[in-house]
Amino acid sequence: MLLFSTWVLMAFLSLLSSPVAGEELFEVRMWPEWPVVEAGKDLWINCSTNCTSPQGGGIETRNIKMTTMREGTHWKAFHLSNFSENTNIFCYFICSDIQKRKSVSVIVYRPPQQVTLSLQPSWVIVGKNFTLTCHVPNVVPLENLTLTLLQGTEKLYRQTFVTVPTALQDAWLTLNVTARREDSKSNFSCHAELDLRPHREQLFSATSEPKMLEIFEPSWNNQMLVTIIITILLLLVFVISVCLCFAYGQHWRQHRTGGYGVLAAWRNYRIRGL
Ligand SMILES: *[C@@H]1O[C@H](CO)[C@@H](O)[C@H](O)[C@H]1NC(C)=O
Ligand SMILES: *[C@@H]1O[C@H](CO)[C@@H](O)[C@H](O)[C@H]1NC(C)=O
Ligand SMILES: *[C@@H]1O[C@H](CO)[C@@H](O)[C@H](O)[C@H]1NC(C)=O
Ligand SMILES: *[C@@H]1O[C@H](CO)[C@@H](O)[C@H](O)[C@H]1NC(C)=O
Ligand SMILES: *[C@@H]1O[C@H](CO)[C@@H](O)[C@H](O)[C@H]1NC(C)=O
Ligand SMILES: *[C@@H]1O[C@H](CO)[C@@H](O)[C@H](O)[C@H]1NC(C)=O
Ligand SMILES: *[C@@H]1O[C@H](CO)[C@@H](O)[C@H](O)[C@H]1NC(C)=O
Repeated sequence: MLLFSTWVLMAFLSLLSSPVAGEELFEVRMWPEWPVVEAGKDLWINCSTNCTSPQGGGIETRNIKMTTMREGTHWKAFHLSNFSENTNIFCYFICSDIQKRKSVSVIVYRPPQQVTLSLQPSWVIVGKNFTLTCHVPNVVPLENLTLTLLQGTEKLYRQTFVTVPTALQDAWLTLNVTARREDSKSNFSCHAELDLRPHREQLFSATSEPKMLEIFEPSWNNQMLVTIIITILLLLVFVISVCLCFAYGQHWRQHRTGGYGVLAAWRNYRIRGL
């Protein structure tokens, strides 16, 4: 009885550890393991297996067009075209009537092309704030994008978009800066960098046109100087005319008084004479 149980147990264990008659352990592999492709571009996906005689195999995609296929006894390679967004691709092989699947997720990127920097307002008085705004349209994945605001070659601010909603494809960055006198001669710019390493060797980057800021001193700018000169001139004209009026008025009164004097004297003379 004990012997029989042991025999059953051993048979059961060997059944668990080894494949059923005719079944073969195999695996499915996909290459590349970390596919990265530019939006609108094509990609080869190679599915392979170590099964000795596969009964069949294929690929499953959604919204991706397959243009060509090549195959060997242990692999099938598919040319997929026009990727527009991140997608999963499945590969399968059938071996000893068993199907095994594997998947990879394809990451679609759009490199930064158009980087624009705007300064607001376009002129500012020393000590007042101005805003730098950098915009990069149509760039993904944002979590691998770094924007740097530069003044000349000096880095003012740097941001990597760590967590972003997947639907976003526009990158914005703003910074408030207080204007200094020495800022008026410097070029501001924005640098965008999409880093897809280590999955892809390239580092994509683009820089905006440089922008300059007009900065005015609060006390002695040209407009104020002109205003002050005009005010002083007007004041002078006013003072001079007041003085002239006064002098002329005085002169006229004296003349009139003098006239009365003569008249009075003449009257007196006539009265005395009578
Ligand atoms: C296939 O690869 C797997 C994992 O490396 C291995 O366990 C299995 O024995 C291999 N099968 C064949 C037929 O080589
Ligand atoms: C696909 O992968 C297999 C196994 O790694 C390789 O032997 C075959 O040459 C590859 N085919 C293409 C078209 O790259
Ligand atoms: C590629 O895909 C885009 C968007 O899915 C589509 O507008 C365009 O017509 C496609 N191009 C080709 C050549 O199929
Ligand atoms: C910059 O300043 C403007 C106006 O003062 C304000 O609306 C905006 O929120 C500020 N932005 C940042 C990033 O501080
Ligand atoms: C101006 O910008 C500085 C940072 O550069 C900020 O600390 C300050 O609050 C800003 N002032 C105003 C009025 O927005
Ligand atoms: C700022 O940019 C302009 C145009 O690119 C260039 O001519 C000028 O030399 C630059 N000035 C400085 C200080 O870098
Ligand atoms: C994007 O950046 C993250 C974090 O650094 C990294 O894990 C991921 O592999 C990058 N994506 C690509 C496509 O390179």
